[in-house]
Amino acid sequence: MAIHLKSDRELAIMREAGRIVAVTLLELQDKARPGMSTADLDRIAEKTATALGATPVFKGYLGYPASLCASINNEVVHGIPSPERVLTEGDIISLDFGVLYHGYVGDAAVTVGVGTISPEAQRLLEITRAALEVGIAQARAGRHLSDVSHAVQTYAEKHGLAVVRKYVGHGVGQTMHEAPQVPNFGPPHQGPILRPGMTFAIEPMLNIGTEETMVLPDQWTVVTKDGGLSAHFEHTIAVTNGDPEILTLP
Ligand code: MF3
Ligand code: CO
Repeated sequence: MAIHLKSDRELAIMREAGRIVAVTLLELQDKARPGMSTADLDRIAEKTATALGATPVFKGYLGYPASLCASINNEVVHGIPSPERVLTEGDIISLDFGVLYHGYVGDAAVTVGVGTISPEAQRLLEITRAALEVGIAQARAGRHLSDVSHAVQTYAEKHGLAVVRKYVGHGVGQTMHEAPQVPNFGPPHQGPILRPGMTFAIEPMLNIGTEETMVLPDQWTVVTKDGGLSAHFEHTIAVTNGDPEILTLP
């Protein structure tokens, strides 16, 4: 399937969509403290983004019941917010949020610690964030899409972390999921050649222990098979004539 190249006008809107997502995630990071439930965070996300003129885009997507994905500790992605899930000191939580703004989507995720976390958890967060950065650095005109994938995998595995295979990044634009898929693993120099105007959500999910995952009976929450910790970072980015542009910045 063809990869849609965004015009400058479209990129300007996506920059604003991305800014709203980033501002909302900053607010959520600040609020992710002991005693807070993931349902509270979902409400805050919805309120913040709506006040900025955007519509949360996850809610209703394939029947997903909330605006935010909030995935704690061994949860990898798609954690459904709940009043019963109350954060405690030492947890890590992935906050994944997306909006639709003037017809375009912004999508991003961060994983943060709740209070003081273990050195092992801290290291997981730092390496996953850095893996996203090395992937983004490959998103340059003339490179192949899989150069992004390969860079993420190489960095993660060099640091002893496992790359989740089953869930991947994606093209993004007028809908949340456009062609192509953007895996976080694979050989270099494969797939489409990157062109200015392509926009992708790059989103490594890295585990301590096995890369294998399973879905809980709620049919959404993805957890590691071995119960190990998992982290997730995501940005929506644009390929340009020069350096890649991160669209999901405050
Ligand atoms: N960032 C995730 C993704 O790109 C969020 C989707 S959650 C869903 O797939 F509920 F909307 F599916
Ligand atoms: Co995404």
